[in-house]
Amino acid sequence: MFRWWLFPTLALFMIEGCQESAFPANSSTNYLSVIPTAARAASLPEYTPFPYGVASGDPLPDAVIIWTMLDSLAARTDSSIVWQLSRSPEFTPPLRSDTITVTAAHHYRLKEDVRGLQPGTAYYYRFGHRGKWSRTGRTRTAPAREFRGQVRLGVVSCNALEWGYFNAFEVMAQEPFDAIIHLGDYIYEYASGAYGDTTIGRLHYPRHEVVTARDYHQRYAQYRRDPQLQLAHANHPFICVWDDHEVANNSHTKGAENHNPELEGDYLTRMTAARAIYYDWMPVRERASGELYRSFEFGQTADLYMLDERLAARTAPAADFSLAALEDTTKHILGQRQLSWLSGELATATGHWQLIGNQVLFAKLDLSNILPQYAVNLDAWDGFRHEKSQLIDSLRKYRNPNTVFLTGDTHCSWYFEVEPSVDQAPPLAHEFGTPSVSSANYDEFIQGWDTLTVAKYRLYRDNPHLQFTNLSDHGFLVLDITPEKLSATFRFLKDIRKPDLREKSHKTFLLDYVHHHAR
Ligand SMILES: [Fe+2]
Repeated sequence: MFRWWLFPTLALFMIEGCQESAFPANSSTNYLSVIPTAARAASLPEYTPFPYGVASGDPLPDAVIIWTMLDSLAARTDSSIVWQLSRSPEFTPPLRSDTITVTAAHHYRLKEDVRGLQPGTAYYYRFGHRGKWSRTGRTRTAPAREFRGQVRLGVVSCNALEWGYFNAFEVMAQEPFDAIIHLGDYIYEYASGAYGDTTIGRLHYPRHEVVTARDYHQRYAQYRRDPQLQLAHANHPFICVWDDHEVANNSHTKGAENHNPELEGDYLTRMTAARAIYYDWMPVRERASGELYRSFEFGQTADLYMLDERLAARTAPAADFSLAALEDTTKHILGQRQLSWLSGELATATGHWQLIGNQVLFAKLDLSNILPQYAVNLDAWDGFRHEKSQLIDSLRKYRNPNTVFLTGDTHCSWYFEVEPSVDQAPPLAHEFGTPSVSSANYDEFIQGWDTLTVAKYRLYRDNPHLQFTNLSDHGFLVLDITPEKLSATFRFLKDIRKPDLREKSHKTFLLDYVHHHAR
């Protein structure tokens, strides 16, 4: 997480006796009948054994992950869940169905990799437990390999619950997408009030900073009870990767800025717990290697590489801004194994557009005239120059100027030309940084808009490859992609401090596909 605030200085009510019964077709009631009085019924939410909703993710042409988690109290008496998947929302009949026993070891989550599906197809799914159905989820498989049509992706990151409402997720839930890419900071680890606007009454639970497996589980449970986030998950498949706050601020494989071993114990224990809890909660495909980086294909239109820049191999960042420190060959952000994998993928890619799901800014960002003490963001690719130059070498070698980095982390919006050419040739790549859903950017920390204007002026002056930035709005990014064009639209919302789906503005950039010599 970059420190934008330095700029200015510049019940569960468990209904007794949940009767076992046959599942009523498409019914969403039958538990309310045991509530003793009408008044109580009116005042209490309807019980569901699936309080965290439903989710799907990692779509392939023939497969998709479906997910839910059973309420732990319900699981005490029966830990089996029925799942159904169908082409119709009426489930008449279900195309696929099974009963799965879920375990306390994985917090009673069901994560099923449903195979044998048709490409580019919408499916509906739901879960049942003791006569009660979950809400119905809708998902979509990736298009077939030969597909050359339009692909629509949402891109999002950084949804800190205390900073605001997840209005962006609710807006996204109502739009058509092939998938939503989440670039990380899906939860924040901080104690209540340590990083957020508690005046709006959205307080972190547990109140303390999350450190143990139990803590992380409770924090995810809180976030996943959010109705706006639930709606987005129910309506679209997600493709997710963690950034730093899924463990702790500015995390890597050996430690984190926000981890104090003397007070919080062994870092490896914390990181291992956070990783395991992430996999329990997120609809990501689990691989035997334990690695989260992976690739996706959207026909011939686009390929997507989701990188893991935090927990695969990242080392501590450079200690200072000296050239020796910045170019230290022992510093890693991806690690050689992941770099080799990415290089191999780029070498054999068949999609017109190469999308790189990237946590921290790849393009160079000169902050020396704005934040002399943070002239280089050591937490981003600028702090790992050895591996950055290796990836640039790969991009040059395979000469695909239709490479687009999709970046989270900063909470602000960016469009860079990456390594622009001086001879009118296309830039090496493009980079779009998505605004945060709610996490603080510039406007949460200053009152004077003059400061903002000056900062933007200096950013543009000192970074001529920077085509656009917005330091103060929240929202999401939409990509509309065909083999010929890629349209990237920043969508900014009016407000995050109350539930409000109104949009404030948008900004679109259109890239033409650049024909290039085959490798
Ligand atoms: Fe963030």
